[in-house]
Formats: sequence, C-alpha cells, structure tokens
Amino acid sequence: MTNEEKTAAAAFLDIADDYLAGGYRKTRAPRVYTGGGERESPPGEGEIRAEFQGGASGASKAEPAASETEPAYDSLEPAAADEAVPADDSLEQVAADISRCGRCGLCSTRTNTVPGEGASRPLVMVVGEGPGADEDISGRPFVGRAGQLLDRMLDSKGKIGLSRSVNCYIANVVKCRPPQNRNPLPDETAACLPFLRRQIRLLKPLVILAAGNTAAKALLDTTEGITRLRGSFAAFSLDNRDIPLLPTFHPSALLRDEGLKVPVWNDMKTLRAKLCELDAGYAERMADTPL
Ligand code: URA
Repeated sequence: MTNEEKTAAAAFLDIADDYLAGGYRKTRAPRVYTGGGERESPPGEGEIRAEFQGGASGASKAEPAASETEPAYDSLEPAAADEAVPADDSLEQVAADISRCGRCGLCSTRTNTVPGEGASRPLVMVVGEGPGADEDISGRPFVGRAGQLLDRMLDSKGKIGLSRSVNCYIANVVKCRPPQNRNPLPDETAACLPFLRRQIRLLKPLVILAAGNTAAKALLDTTEGITRLRGSFAAFSLDNRDIPLLPTFHPSALLRDEGLKVPVWNDMKTLRAKLCELDAGYAERMADTPL
C-alpha cells in the first residue's frame, strides 16, 4: 500500500468507527503516513485551544478538502467548519446549519436546536451555557425561570435598559440541551463554538456579557472560575478585533443563592458604564435614568 492509500483507508476506518460507536463524527488529528511509520498529532489541549481562539492558529490546522457539491462546513470537523463560513453568511444560515448539526452527541437527545434570538445589531450579546428543558421544547434561549430573571437583570427597571426585543441578542455556548442539564463536555463545547463565533461575527455586539462559568471559560479560554473573573472586563478576540467581555454569574446561580444579587447588580452597573462610553445614544438615554 502507498502512503496515500494508507491515509485514505485510515480516514475511511475512522468514519466507520465513529458511526458505529456513536453515530457522529469525532474531532481527530489527521493521520499522516510517511515512510514506514504513522505519526498522529496528539489531539488534546493545543488543538482545543486553537479551536477556542479561532483566527490564525485555527487556519494553520490541517483540513480535509472541501466538497464541491455542498457547503464544506457542513461535513467538516469543527475547526475546519469555522474557516469555511460562506461569504454571504447570515443569522438565518447559522440557525439552519445548527438545525441539522450532528457534530456531537447532543444531537441525539435534543428536541429542538436553540440558536439564539434578539436584535440583529445588538449593544450586548449575552452568552449562556446551553439550553435547558424549556428551551429544548421551545427552541428559544432563556425562556425558563433563569431566562425570566435574565430579562429582569438586563432591564433592571429601566436602569440598565437592555432587552432581547430591542438591543440585546441572547445565545448559548452549546445549541442543544445537555441531558439532565449537565455542563457541556469539552468536546461538545469545542464542536459548537464555531457557530457562536459566526454569530458574533455577524452581530458585531459592542459588548459580550458572559453569563456563568461555562461561557466565561469557553470565550476567554481560561480555567479561571467565574468568582474570580466576574465584574471586570476582559477581551474576546475574534478576527484581530477585541470585543469587551464582562463575565457575571449565571442567573440560575442567582436563583439558588440570593447573596449573588449584589455582585450581579454591581456587574450590571459596570456594563451600563461601559455602554455609556461606547454608545452615544445609550449614554443619552441613560442620562435621564439615574442609578
Ligand atoms: N440556561 C442557559 O445557560 N441557557 C439557556 O438558554 C437557559 C438556561
């Protein structure tokens, strides 16, 4: 067998193995046969980090060739999928791609995908963890108890003045419900992040509000916990542009622990101050609304 034939056979066997094991493709490092031995790049951290960061590091990843008959991103693994965004991408296209996604095991237990909803040019994009039971049934993000609290936090009786119907977009790190509301697994997060990055590219939010540990860690590519991260702006980098990102506690955490209300209110005031800096219209509106 030539090295090319070995590479093709290994790729076929990987696909067969994935489908027999779980019915969906796994993220794998490319197998390269040179001379007598196989060199398999270790999957792990570096690759997942590149996946979180996108941009130049993602672009240098080895990719399968694009199909000529259908959008390449549909059949490729996550990192490659992120690169292969159509030139005329749109929120509707992202939602359509999410609706037929089978990149991780969550597709087998979901009722509906939950791409996100809100203003198409938002001041703030809120990113949560993943859909819960209510969201899975309705296909809409943050509609259960935590969602209702999130809506109240964002408006705060007009003092923050944000809402999904006017100036916010609300989405999650993963777009399908993790069973029993468990935290998304690293491979599920990595598989779904390209969709979130496409949404951020299209929405161009002035600020991202990362609600909870999963969102803050995934977007900032850090292992630091939310208790330390919250309350201070960090930068989310995408396409050589930094978007201010404010981590705060997840509304579900507030429902469990009333003591978090004060820090979250402080975070909302920090958010308001940043938006006043960045958007003259918002600043003007807030000038008439004392804290
Ligand atoms: N929790 C989340 O993180 N997202 C939702 O959409 C609902 C609850």
